[in-house]
Amino acid sequence: MKNIISANQFKKSEIEKILSSAVLMEKAYKKNKIKPILKDKIVACIFFEPSTRTRLSFETAALKLGAKVISAENALENSSAHKGETIEDTTKILCSYADVVVIRHPIAGTLDKAAKVATKPLINAGDGANQHPTQGFLDLYTIKKEHGRLNNLNIGFGGDLLNSRTLKSLVPFLRLYSGNKFYFISPKQLELPREFIKDLKENEIAFEELRSLDEKLGELDVLYMTRVQKERFANEKEYNKAKDLFIFKKEHLKKLKKNAIIMHPLPKINEIEREVDADPRAAYFRQAQNGLYVRMALLCYSLGL
Ligand code: NCD
Repeated sequence: MKNIISANQFKKSEIEKILSSAVLMEKAYKKNKIKPILKDKIVACIFFEPSTRTRLSFETAALKLGAKVISAENALENSSAHKGETIEDTTKILCSYADVVVIRHPIAGTLDKAAKVATKPLINAGDGANQHPTQGFLDLYTIKKEHGRLNNLNIGFGGDLLNSRTLKSLVPFLRLYSGNKFYFISPKQLELPREFIKDLKENEIAFEELRSLDEKLGELDVLYMTRVQKERFANEKEYNKAKDLFIFKKEHLKKLKKNAIIMHPLPKINEIEREVDADPRAAYFRQAQNGLYVRMALLCYSLGL
């Protein structure tokens, strides 16, 4: 039994195995020849925060592999959490019903608490602004598929870096590969937490912090845009001040390398102009599709299969 709580828990060898398993899942999926490896298993998906892709791709992954799914969306309202039940008690109960438990929660660190009492594999589907390791895996898979490598890349992250849990899972993966350089592009109020930057410095990871999207656009192999995370702001006024500061526009495409890709975990709101979607370098819908294969691989990994 293996929990998936944080990107930081994984060694490179384990990451490589999971990515290879996802390649096999994609091949089987495309040939319509998926083996029902999870037959007789029950996967619980309990989401205390909104989700489209993460929950539905986990559920599809489980069903494709022959598992059955029990699920609670809007669990802050629709589960006993609404009555005041602790995450520990909820987790114990879920583990007594299901074989794998996938949880998303608005509070950072909740999955660590749940892991202390879990008796079945636990998968973090996003905890506050902290971690989103399965998104990190699907982002890594996408970069490898699109560029054919995970090293010697210039990767720019644009937008709300302070609150992006997907960045905080992808960067720990990418820094395991040599020759990568990160460009963190955000307004001051949405910059990465200083302890994250301190850790990069201490580990001699190559990076720059920039305040303008245009500055290094021509050098990037990957531009990873993020949504301004409205739900993490203290109030609407603060959100409104930040929400339109960084927009990737159609005219930016001219500056981008021919083989660069634009990624986004989705949902996107204003941060990428609609016209950009039609450019072949816009990889975000392909990225979301990859989530299915990667989550099939991760469900098997968590069960030791
Ligand atoms: C992301 C998330 O929930 O952190 N979405 C996702 O899982 N694909 C990004 C976001 O909500 O902005």
